[in-house]
Parts: sequence; structure tokens; C-alpha cells
Amino acid sequence: MEYQHLLYQVDKHIAYITINRASALNALNQQTLTELEATLLEAKKDHDVKGIIITGAGEKAFVAGADIKEFVDLSEAEAKLLSQKGHYIFTELIEQSPKPVIAAINGFALGGGLELALACHMRFASANAKLGLPEVSLGLLPGYGGTQRLTQLVGRGRALQMILTADLISAEEGLRIGLINEVLDAADLMNRVEEVLERIFSRSGTAVTAAIDAVNASNEQTRDGYQVEINHFAELFVTRDFKEGVDAFLTKRKPNF
Ligand code: CAA
Repeated sequence: MEYQHLLYQVDKHIAYITINRASALNALNQQTLTELEATLLEAKKDHDVKGIIITGAGEKAFVAGADIKEFVDLSEAEAKLLSQKGHYIFTELIEQSPKPVIAAINGFALGGGLELALACHMRFASANAKLGLPEVSLGLLPGYGGTQRLTQLVGRGRALQMILTADLISAEEGLRIGLINEVLDAADLMNRVEEVLERIFSRSGTAVTAAIDAVNASNEQTRDGYQVEINHFAELFVTRDFKEGVDAFLTKRKPNF
């Protein structure tokens, strides 16, 4: 199948999904999300595929977030559908994938891009990578699971610092706080991720799938924080701050909240 914004390739039991929209720093527009869903389903049903690597094309960005240009005229109801679509893909097709999924973070992983990496089972980053959830600078909050998964990974205090300040952190800092598994020179990133997957492939596939499911079960909660996030994400689309934040980004100026 041909994809407009993704490269998909299978080699030595690994499915490589490369987000390929360099002109927008690989931002996830709706078409890219749809294609991501299709490739993940393709990898899932392909018996030759035992593991998946998600990365970004080029040297500058993994994924710089959801596509802010598509946000401009979204209603609250449309924003909710968009957030739900992201949640479905990130939770059911990535986090709950029976085959291991690793993010190879080769540059900026921001907003929905960091959320994509957070949904993966592991995150390996090149030394030049920058990580962050800048949504509050747009009058939004993370809408693809970031408020839940970042908190689970690094704890409430560090998650809130990243989310409320919108500041970016380095790959090394990500390693220090447990967000990143390993930091590598850019030239070594893919080799190392392949090596880790090959090591996993040498183990029992049935046991690997069971272990992924058991680890995922550790995050089950009484209140559905994901639903809370979806609702707030959609509600924020009708606020003045959101209009100001997005307009400021698009016209390349500082927002006036
Ligand atoms: N959406 C749409 N376009 C984007 C984009 C995004 N998330 N990120 C970058 N681009 C575009 C820029 O608009 C620019 O396009 P033009 O040349 O047409 O102006 C192009 O990519 C290159 O970007 P910059 O010129 O801005 O590159 P830079 O090196 O100066 O800055 C950056 C890099 C710091 C990553 C900056 O692009 C940036 O801040 N991007 C936005 C990051 C962001 O806020 N992400 C969160 C999005 S909201 C979200 O993801 C919601 C959610 O949880 C679901």
C-alpha cells in the first residue's frame, strides 16, 4: 500500500514506520494519523513482523506534535473526535500491541509527537533530541494521552513541571528522569534499537506478548484519566486562549494570554 506521509517497510521481522512530512517537522495531521493506523494494522496482521520501530524522517524531528494548522477551525465536537482517534491509535494499536513497539526519537518529539513516543513500549533517543509537551503555550493540554502516560513514567511532579512550563528538555535529561531508555549518537540510534528488538526476538514470542499485557495492566485506574483528558482537550478549543495561542504560533509571535 502507498502512503502519502509515511514510509512503511519490513525487514528482518521488523516493521519500520517512518513519519515523513519533513516540511512540517513530521507533524501529525489527520491524514498521517489515518495512515499510522493503517500501517499499525498491517504490521499487526503480518506474521513475518515480530516488532515495530516508529521514527521520523530527516535529522531534525521525530514528530513536532499534532498539526497546529489543522486546529484553527476545529469545533469542540471535532476536537473530541480527533483526541479520541489519537487515543484509540496510541492505546489500542501501540501501547496494547502484542508485538514490541520502540520509538527511535531522532530529533524534536513535541506534543502529540512525544505522546506517540510515550505510547511505545520503549524510547531510545539520539543525543540531539528535544522532548516536551508545549500544549499549554497554545492554550491547550496534551490530547493524545500525555497527561496520563508522562505521569506514569516520570511521576506527578516532573510531569507537571514539563506540562505546565511547556519547556523542552534534552535527551540526557529525559534519560535522567526515566522518560528515555538510552541516549545514543544519531548514527548509532537505529542499530541499537534493532539490536534490542533482535534480543527480544530471541525470547519466547508468547511470553513477550503476555509480559507486555501484564505490564500494561499495572496502569489500570479507577477514574478514567484518559476520558478526563479528552473532555478538557475538546473544551479548550472554544476558549479565547486557544484562539490566541494558535494564532500566535501561526503568525510567528508571542501569545498574549
Ligand atoms: N504543526 C504544524 N506545523 C508545524 C508544527 C506543528 N506541530 N511544528 C512545526 N511546524 C511547521 C512550522 O509551522 C514551519 O512551517 P512553515 O515553514 O510553513 O512556517 C515548519 O514546520 C518548520 O518549523 P519552524 O520554522 O518553526 O522550525 P524551528 O526550527 O524554528 O522550530 C520547533 C522548531 C521548536 C519544533 C517549532 O516548529 C515548534 O514550536 N513547533 C510546534 C511544536 C508544538 O507546539 N507542538 C505541539 C502541537 S499541539 C499537540 O500536539 C496537541 C496534542 O497533544 C494532540
